[in-house]
Amino acid sequence: MFEFLTGDNDKIFMEWSDKYATGSKPIDDDHRGLFNIVNHYYNAVHHGEAQESLDAILDLVEKYIQEHFAREERLMSELGFKHLHEHKKMHADLAKAFFATRLSYHLSPGEFDSDAFLLFMQTWLTKHILTEDQKLVPYIDRERRTRREELSS
Ligand SMILES: [Fe+2]
Ligand SMILES: [Fe+2]
Repeated sequence: MFEFLTGDNDKIFMEWSDKYATGSKPIDDDHRGLFNIVNHYYNAVHHGEAQESLDAILDLVEKYIQEHFAREERLMSELGFKHLHEHKKMHADLAKAFFATRLSYHLSPGEFDSDAFLLFMQTWLTKHILTEDQKLVPYIDRERRTRREELSS
């Protein structure tokens, strides 16, 4: 999980709230980390930071997405999540959309639409976490209850 220290003048573009929580610490930490990276990108753009620094943030988003999707799919598989197949497809589509955006940035960084990218990340994160990742919550709850029963018996 990557942490960014926010400066006094930094604005919060995406605010974390409990409604995004799944109850799995590694998954929630990842999601929070993604919010942080998007906020970091937002502030870098609005403080007029150099291209290299934006590039480094996009590299980080790329790495983070890959690691997070793999971790989440692993947990889903362990918990017998019944929507795993569709969920993997959604992750693959999101990754593809991100890579296309990333490529357009590489090809012409000067014309990259940062606001459109921020909107894409915001829509994706909020929608996917609230409607799709949340479907994992009953599985996480069941696992926790089972473990508790095992420990007390
Ligand atoms: Fe997901
Ligand atoms: Fe997720």
